[in-house]
Amino acid sequence: MLFKQQALLRQKLFVLGSLAIGSLLYLVARVGSLDRLQPICPIEGRSGSHISEQIPLRTLQFQRGLLHELRKGNAMMEQIRLHNLVQQLPQAIIIGVRKGGTRALLEMLNLHPAVVKASQEVHFFDNDPNYAKGIEWYKGKMPFSHPHQITIEKSPAYFITEEVPERIFKMNSSIKLLLIVREPTTRAVSDYTQVLEGKERKNKTYYKFEKLAIDPNTCEVNTKYKAVRTSIYTKHLEKWLKYFPVEQFHVVDGDRLITDPLPELQLVEQFLNLPPRISQYNLYFNATRGFYCLRFNIVFNKCLAGSKGRIHPDVDPSVVTKLRKFFHPFNQKFYQIIGRTFNWP
Ligand code: A3P
Repeated sequence: MLFKQQALLRQKLFVLGSLAIGSLLYLVARVGSLDRLQPICPIEGRSGSHISEQIPLRTLQFQRGLLHELRKGNAMMEQIRLHNLVQQLPQAIIIGVRKGGTRALLEMLNLHPAVVKASQEVHFFDNDPNYAKGIEWYKGKMPFSHPHQITIEKSPAYFITEEVPERIFKMNSSIKLLLIVREPTTRAVSDYTQVLEGKERKNKTYYKFEKLAIDPNTCEVNTKYKAVRTSIYTKHLEKWLKYFPVEQFHVVDGDRLITDPLPELQLVEQFLNLPPRISQYNLYFNATRGFYCLRFNIVFNKCLAGSKGRIHPDVDPSVVTKLRKFFHPFNQKFYQIIGRTFNWP
C-alpha cells in the first residue's frame, strides 16, 4: 500500500516537473522571438506591396511556423484560406552554381521574414519531363506564402543547362537571378568530392581528380571533364545574357559566404529590395562544424547537413597551378561582365 502511494507521488511529481520545464521552454521561446519584434517594411519596388501589408515580425514567425506545418501536410485547407496563403511562382531563383554554396545561400535567405524557400530542388527548367508538366505543376511545387512574401527556389543545374535561360525568360522576363560562385578550382574539387563520395557509397572505385582534370595525352586541362567545364563561369553566363540584362543578376561570393556570410546576405537583401532583417544574431560560427550555422531565435537553430562542407582530397599542387592558370583569363572576363572582382589567383 505504502509502495503504491509512493509510486503515485513519484508519478505526480514527474508530471508537475514536465509541466514546469515545458512552460520554461515556452517562455524562453517567446522571449527569443519577442526580441526581434519590430515592424517589417514593405518590399520596396514590388507591385502590390502596401503599408497596410506590414505585419509584426512575431506574427510572421508564427505564420512561418504554420507554413512549416503546411509543408509537412498537417494543416487543412481551412487554415490556408484563413491565413490567406498562396503558392507563388518564384520572384527570384538561385540558378547555381553547383557546389558554390547554393544550399547555404537559400537557407540563410530564408532567415528573412519576407522570404519563403522551396525546400527541395525543383529541377523544372532543366529537366524535360518536369518542364513538360507545365507551369501549374511548377507552381504546385512552391511553398505556401503570404502574397507580400517572395518565394525563392534553387536548382544549381539551371546555370549550365542550355535550354534554361529561354525557359525562365518565357515564365518571367524580369525575374531576379542569383548566382553564387567560388574560386573555380576549389569548386571543381568540391564537385569531384561529391561524385567520389557517391561512388564510394556504392563501393565503386573512381579515378583520382588529377586523372580527370588533366588530359593524359596532351597534359593540358581536360575541358571535357564536367567539373572543369562548370567552373568556366563566363561561358555559361554569356548564354544567359542573350535573354537577361546583366542588371538582373546578382553574383554572390561563395568563398566569403563561408568565412563572413552577413555582408554577402546584406548585398542580396539590397538586390531583392528587401528591408535589412538578417543580422549577426542569426548567424553563429560553429567550431565543430567549421561553418556558420543559422539561429532563428533563442531556441531554434540549425547547421547545414554534413554533406555540405566535405573534406576535399589533396590535389597535386602542379595540377592546381595548371587549373588556376587555365581559369585565369575566363575569370578576368567574368569580372568584367559582372562588374565585381574576386580574390581568385
Ligand atoms: P564543400 O562541401 O566543398 O565544402 P552547394 O550547396 O551548392 O552544394 O555548396 C556546398 C558548399 O557550400 C560546401 O562545399 C561548403 O563549403 C559551402 N558552404 C557555404 N556556407 C556553408 C555553411 N554555412 N555550412 C556548410 N557549408 C557551407
